Amino acid sequence: MAVKKGTPKIVIQGGGRLAGELSVQGAKNSILPLLSATVLCQGESVLHNCPNLSDADAACRILNCLGCKCAREGKSISVNSKEVLNTDVPKDLMREMRSSIVFLGAILGRTHQCKLTFPGGCELGPRPIDLHVMALRKMGVNIEEKGGFLNCNAPKGIQGANISLALPSVGATENIILAAVTAKGTTEIHNAAREPEITDLAEFLNKCGAKISGAGTGTVIIEGVEQLGGAEHTVISDRIVAATYLCCAAITRGELVLKNVDYRHISAVLPVLEQMGCRIYTYDDNKIYINAKKQLRAPYKITTSAHPGFPTDAQPMFMALASTLEGTTMFVETIFDNRFRHAEGFSRLGAKITVSDRVAVVEGTDKLTGADLEATDLRGGAALITAALFAQKTSTITGITHIDRGYDDIVGNLKKIGANIKNA
Ligand code: UD1
Repeated sequence: MAVKKGTPKIVIQGGGRLAGELSVQGAKNSILPLLSATVLCQGESVLHNCPNLSDADAACRILNCLGCKCAREGKSISVNSKEVLNTDVPKDLMREMRSSIVFLGAILGRTHQCKLTFPGGCELGPRPIDLHVMALRKMGVNIEEKGGFLNCNAPKGIQGANISLALPSVGATENIILAAVTAKGTTEIHNAAREPEITDLAEFLNKCGAKISGAGTGTVIIEGVEQLGGAEHTVISDRIVAATYLCCAAITRGELVLKNVDYRHISAVLPVLEQMGCRIYTYDDNKIYINAKKQLRAPYKITTSAHPGFPTDAQPMFMALASTLEGTTMFVETIFDNRFRHAEGFSRLGAKITVSDRVAVVEGTDKLTGADLEATDLRGGAALITAALFAQKTSTITGITHIDRGYDDIVGNLKKIGANIKNA
């Protein structure tokens, strides 16, 4: 693969052992719904522990375009939503960030109307929003899908409703909560997503005056209130970033202390590392120590599922790790159709992987060799970095805008713990 001169890339000289201490950034998947939730607040909100991410910047641009005044100072973002002047999200801003669909529920909740582009497919395969649309229609929203646009309005206001989701979609659960907090009456969501980011969203909204109970369980109940004020809130730590750094430590057979992490949020991830032979200690409520200096072995099978199961977003980094362990691991992906694209990059490094539909079989090898790689999606990109840390000789990774969507200075952080890595 010829890399065009001047293309930004990450250069990694693998083979070294990582050791040290890292603090985990705030969660990308929390900051985006939290920023959209500020649209509902008739006042100022301040969010702390906000990572520097291109997706967060895109969400701020959407807020400013709506008339909410959004400003960042270090890791804090303030949003003043006293006036929402605009109810349409322009096409180019929608395109910048697929998860911008989470603005739909918030804008509707505040103004009872909204126009935005229909999010198309993405790197992980088709990402339908039928569950979002079905639920909002049940809540009295007229939705017209035309020419790639969603035209939504609720002339009689949003009504509470009883909603059962066919599958526990994270985005649909968030959109329903956002539309329901200021709706008339009570909304019940059954088979709701139970991800920690849903709980974080509900905690922020409750601080603003909402009445939400059951977040983090399969049944969420939202009693509509007249209006919301602003609030101050600290974003939870990013469990997928934590899993990434744990895999980076393990693949280099190193040791690492992660600070500012909630180990309960990765309770399905830690036992897999232990099964491989890593020693893991959790302590002080927010720290994890991993030691991977022993001979590690491949786990038999990793199946992704909705929280509290093994997260699909951590699957690529675990595949990188499994590629370097003695034995065979079967990966079964149950959430997305097209989530093994990173396997091609691993193969370029010398990994032995066979992919068939949603199953990948990885035969571990003790030698990977550096190569020119291209990130094609966010977590797949982080997984290429993980694999390149093990590979002998030099790897270059292009497509790093994908990685910047979700990782706040991954290069600087890995360098801090001894990786031979740089931006070029
Ligand atoms: C969120 C996360 C993403 C993570 C995913 C699954 C954010 C910003 N993104 O994405 O990192 O990988 O959860 O944990 O929080 N589906 C439908 N119809 C719908 C909605 C979803 O069929 O209306 C399907 C999707 O195609 C997918 C599955 O449900 O196969 C899960 O999607 P969902 O939980 O909605 O993921 P996102 O909210 O998009």
